[in-house]
Amino acid sequence: MSETYQQYWKDRSWSCIREGIKTVDNYAMKCFLMETKPKMLLEIGCGLGRFLPLYKDVDQVFATDLVDERITHCKTLGFDNYKFEVLDISKQTLPFAFDTIVSTQVLLHIPPKHIANAIKNMVDMTNDNGHWWHCTNYAPVKLSAPDADYSPELPTANSFSHPLPELFENAGMKVISMENIQFFNGAVNTIFVCKKEV
Ligand SMILES: C[S@@+](CC[C@H](N)C(=O)[O-])C[C@H]1O[C@@H](n2cnc3c(N)ncnc32)[C@H](O)[C@@H]1O
Repeated sequence: MSETYQQYWKDRSWSCIREGIKTVDNYAMKCFLMETKPKMLLEIGCGLGRFLPLYKDVDQVFATDLVDERITHCKTLGFDNYKFEVLDISKQTLPFAFDTIVSTQVLLHIPPKHIANAIKNMVDMTNDNGHWWHCTNYAPVKLSAPDADYSPELPTANSFSHPLPELFENAGMKVISMENIQFFNGAVNTIFVCKKEV
């Protein structure tokens, strides 16, 4: 990602208190984890760490984010057996494979020119028969310039609508379910559950 894009997230690191009051997605992820019982889980874009308590029964947890300040903050939350890494999913992978990868409100922020790479990187880190759980704005998000990396002058500067079902399926991830959830502020998100079928 460009430096401007990284700066966007650095600048809003501490203004993201709203992230902490969305509870429906938290409950939905809890149900998913109870069902799939992962042993090794990777979170992409963990932000201020609001999902970390849900992973306490997972043997190995890697929580990652683009922004080092967010990772530094997450390290203070008391999850001493988790691993925390700065990771730009559009550019990097970890040298491990996971049975579960999760993200919330991250994929919509990845610019169109990087989304295929981000998905490929996640596929490369997913075990055969492994699962994904991604909660993201989907069709309703207004596009900023389709080829933009980051356009601070636009009101929708950093939100993008991607054809996620198609991109997931083309990358070898079967879309098992797509479920819309509505937050109390009216915003609608879609939860994608996918499986890497062999
Ligand atoms: C809207 S916040 C959501 C944070 C958290 N998942 C939550 O729901 O509370 C988006 C997060 O994605 C991170 N992010 C954005 N682009 C990323 C990328 N390319 N790779 C990894 N993380 C990224 C940001 O730094 C930010 O912490």
